[in-house]
Amino acid sequence: MRALRGLPVEHTPVWFMRQAGRSLSEYRAVRARANLFEIVRSPALAAEVTIAPVTRLGVDAAILFSDITVPLAAVGIELEIVPGVGPVIAQPFREPADLGRLRSFEPERDAPYVGDTVRLLVHELEVPVIGFAGGPFTLASYLIEGGPSKTHARTRALMYSHPDLFRDLLAALAGIALASLRAQALAGASALQLFDSWVGVLDPGSYSRNVLPATVSIFDGLRDLDVPTVYFGVGTGELLGRMGTAGSDAVGIDWRVPMEAARARLPSGLAVQGNLDPVVCLAPWDVVRERALRVLRQAGPAGHVFNLGHGVLPETDPETLRRLVDLVHGYGYGQGHLTEPLVRS
Ligand code: CP3
Repeated sequence: MRALRGLPVEHTPVWFMRQAGRSLSEYRAVRARANLFEIVRSPALAAEVTIAPVTRLGVDAAILFSDITVPLAAVGIELEIVPGVGPVIAQPFREPADLGRLRSFEPERDAPYVGDTVRLLVHELEVPVIGFAGGPFTLASYLIEGGPSKTHARTRALMYSHPDLFRDLLAALAGIALASLRAQALAGASALQLFDSWVGVLDPGSYSRNVLPATVSIFDGLRDLDVPTVYFGVGTGELLGRMGTAGSDAVGIDWRVPMEAARARLPSGLAVQGNLDPVVCLAPWDVVRERALRVLRQAGPAGHVFNLGHGVLPETDPETLRRLVDLVHGYGYGQGHLTEPLVRS
């Protein structure tokens, strides 16, 4: 929490996006008995898979086990998570009238299991719990495309053809994200991350006109809670300066942008999170180590939360992640200057 706020820390903290996923045998064992939504809707199972990577890897934070599509399902959008594919929506949004299918989200009524899981985790864990929600562009893309897309062509076509409708849709989705994030914070989450994973497909002007206002409304709506926030997307190199004005405390950086460049593009005072290429974790340890040290050196001693540039790949060896946690923790600071790492692994 201190690192997200840019305050001095003893060592750079570390967690991994998708740390509670298929790379862990503990997760695969639970998943063999229950599907993703069954896990999410069972506080005991969701807490078990959330805690597994904290125990196994020694990370400094837990991220609630859920999915960005959970609030959509909770307001009645029929969807399925297809293994190896992603979220698939039964009836994609194709007409103006479809907007009427998005009702407002009341977390404690529509998805009480989320708050219950967060409360259970806060009770069981010593490390902070990170809550999260899907960003408005990413959720709009799943709704409009009907599933994952490489080009997000239908989504961008709607944005160009019917900008008012598109902005109304994003405003509605921002309302859902805000309600979801507030409920998680009120249940005890210590930090919140907005995953607008696919927003990097937009040019800066389209982003500023069509996505930034909805995003600002989310971070504005969280301010009274005084919970630190992270704003993350993939392929956002050209958008970082603008994303940095949305109102979050930190911005998540993917692996394409060197940390020094990310810092230069962001307004000063913002913290950064990231940004080791997840694929590096499939390389020999010496390479992982060298690349991780480069991230640490470039990000500098303050206002950095170490993470990957995107989620852990299922084929990642958890032992590599565990050694990475040790490496980050062993990397000390003397009077504000990086010293040689105290390698323990
Ligand atoms: O450990 C964690 O990070 C917490 C859990 C988490 C999940 N999804 C569980 C999950 C989080 C934070 C998410 C967010 C999420 N979901 C995002 C934003 C982060 C990102 O990756 O950019 C997105 C875009 C989604 C949508 C989604 N859900 C995708 C693309 C997939 C993968 C489909 C596949 O099988 O490859 C999912 C399913 C999903 N969500 C899995 C997990 C562990 C894997 C599927 C399974 O176990 O069946």
